[in-house]
Amino acid sequence: MKTWSDRFEEGLNPFIESFNASIDFDILLLEEDLDGSIAHARMLGKTGILTSEEAHQLEEGLEQIRLEASQGTFKPELSDEDIHMAVEKRLTVILGSLGKKLHTGRSRNDQVGTDLRLWLRRRIDELDIHLKRLQIALLIKAESNLFTLIPGYTHLQRAQPLSLAHHLLAYIEMIERDRNRLIDVRKRVDICPLGSAALAGTSLPIDRSFTADQLNFSSIYSNSLDAVSDRDFAVEFTAASSLIMVHLSRLADEIILWASEEFSFLRLTDRCATGSSLMPQKKNPDVPELVRGKTGRVFGHLQSLLTMIKGLPLAYNKDFQEDKEAIFDTFKTVNNSLKAMSILLEEGLEFSLDNLSEAVRSDFSNATDVADYLVSKNIPFREAYQIVGRVVKLCINRKILLKDLTLDEWQEIHPLINQDIFEKLLPEKIVASRISQGGTGFVRVREELEKWRKQLISPN
Ligand code: ARG
Repeated sequence: MKTWSDRFEEGLNPFIESFNASIDFDILLLEEDLDGSIAHARMLGKTGILTSEEAHQLEEGLEQIRLEASQGTFKPELSDEDIHMAVEKRLTVILGSLGKKLHTGRSRNDQVGTDLRLWLRRRIDELDIHLKRLQIALLIKAESNLFTLIPGYTHLQRAQPLSLAHHLLAYIEMIERDRNRLIDVRKRVDICPLGSAALAGTSLPIDRSFTADQLNFSSIYSNSLDAVSDRDFAVEFTAASSLIMVHLSRLADEIILWASEEFSFLRLTDRCATGSSLMPQKKNPDVPELVRGKTGRVFGHLQSLLTMIKGLPLAYNKDFQEDKEAIFDTFKTVNNSLKAMSILLEEGLEFSLDNLSEAVRSDFSNATDVADYLVSKNIPFREAYQIVGRVVKLCINRKILLKDLTLDEWQEIHPLINQDIFEKLLPEKIVASRISQGGTGFVRVREELEKWRKQLISPN
């Protein structure tokens, strides 16, 4: 028997009943539904819409459902349609007709919006903890690799050597922006729609500010129509989550590349790598591959929400029921990916210091520095650039590196070049010299490491 069945004469087609139901997934909102209903019941008591005894009993009945759920005895059925109906039905079994008074002055439309915001607000706080954990894992790796050099790339071509710490710190910056974006999204999740009722408000003397206070919302929606039909916050959440996944995916992709035999910049430990069922020599980077692969589904949720909302007339439409799986799966995907990447950094990979050192010594990534050296001898940069271009070509033809040229050969290239050119070619010196603000120079990177340690680990 449906709550709304008096208006209808025939029962629902069983397939349509299950097509219509959301209980399979909105069961996740149980805690928040109970919290919202308790706040609503208290408000009904406080305003005198119900007696305080009635309000008290409603609250106790709702707490009993919470207890039953924790003991596994609260079992909603498909015929309950959704979590809101399931709770109300159970409450009515527990309290008799008093249970039917809970829904006074509200609708499922403002109720579901409230539940979803309460749920998301908590999950955003949880994500922040995991984002910070990943930042700390990156920082610890960075701290032990200030003087480890790694080739830096543009166009995936060797460009200039970097401090590995500088490279890892770049991801800490990205994640910091992700955290700030979520904090910003949270502001718009933190507005209470409860009491907007179906779409127009109510004639009953409710107190929306009281309910919002009970639920710790920072404010209430000013327009009842907007309140029940706003899903901007869901779009913002999936958009911010998409960027988190973009960052994780780029990091994952670098780890996959670095673990390849071609790069060999790191080894995966047995804790986080898997073998092949066929090829005994393999150790596969499944964890970063999965993170990279899961990125698409979060982008998909963003697209599906945007598309779901775009043509909807005000106010509530059942289409909105589709928001939940998008939000739930986005959270689960991002949260799990963050955890997996943190574990990967904490115990899943070891940088191959010998290979990294060899890599930065066996290429032409010191060419810019020869040009800068010539500039320091007052040769105009463009001219210096061309000279070095010719030298690189010559070395490539002779299958040697810049460091293999003799002083005589250098002086033939340009008479102003001295013995000190050899020091200029050393990757350590090159990295150390990039001390412009935000550069990879060790002194700069050390300052950044200290800044982040203060911010993330020890605030004093
Ligand atoms: N299960 C519904 C949803 O997720 C709850 C709101 C239903 N409201 C309604 N008027 N049918 O959106």
